Amino acid sequence: MFESIKDQIKNINKIVVVTGAGISQESGIPTFRGKDGLWRNYDAMKLATIDAFYDNPKLVWEWYNERRKNIFQAQPNQGHKAIAELEKYAQVIVLTQNIDGLHQKAGSSKVLELHGSIVTIKCSVCDYREEILTEISILPPLCKCGNILRPDVVWFGEILPQNVWKNAIIFASQCDLMIVVGTSLVVSPANTLPIYAKQNNSFLIEINPENTDMSIDMDLVIKNTSAVALPEFVSLFKKNSYD
Ligand code: APR
Repeated sequence: MFESIKDQIKNINKIVVVTGAGISQESGIPTFRGKDGLWRNYDAMKLATIDAFYDNPKLVWEWYNERRKNIFQAQPNQGHKAIAELEKYAQVIVLTQNIDGLHQKAGSSKVLELHGSIVTIKCSVCDYREEILTEISILPPLCKCGNILRPDVVWFGEILPQNVWKNAIIFASQCDLMIVVGTSLVVSPANTLPIYAKQNNSFLIEINPENTDMSIDMDLVIKNTSAVALPEFVSLFKKNSYD
């Protein structure tokens, strides 16, 4: 898969990995737009916007409770673990659109959550925030201040956490190599990250069984799953470290 870049990676030090739902698919978490994707079965505009939340907070919370249960039972797969292992050979920053926390669970030490985290609950008004791993029983849950609590995730039409996004642009603009894995690159602004890397003449690799809108802009495209391709990529560094 990666023979063509065996020598090239010897000079690679700063790696940015941009991930999406595809990397967690092999951990049993559905993607959004794939064959059994969430948005095929649910109406995003009824479940993942602030208006939908205020229209029917109980419905939104029932859906997030389902997703939380599924995500808390999920384990990192070989793809997540390979990215964590890559830290032995280079500086690795993970810029993830995923809210499942599986990169951190796999041992990745530098993970920026562009779309927030399903583990954290926050108040829709005051600055209360807390990591809660148990099922939310009273729906919708209320904050001590009396307002409704919501999942600390970025819904359609909402801006990304600005400090996280600012840092993501900096890392993308300074990396030697960017791996784009398991994302359809249809959602912005996360889908602009490869452009920042390209402007920095970084080497771009895409790992995805399907084509994406930016496959033609990549330097290397691997049509395979992340749990298969990423361990192979890391083994390249391992081999090089023996040379
Ligand atoms: N390994 C690698 N890639 C995979 C795998 C796999 N095992 N399985 C599926 N894929 C690819 C699909 O081909 C698809 O291109 O992962 C991509 C998943 O795309 P989406 O479902 O669109 O998910 P994502 O790109 O993460 O969505 C972006 O949209 O709904 C919002 O906020 C949500 O963060 C999400 C954002």
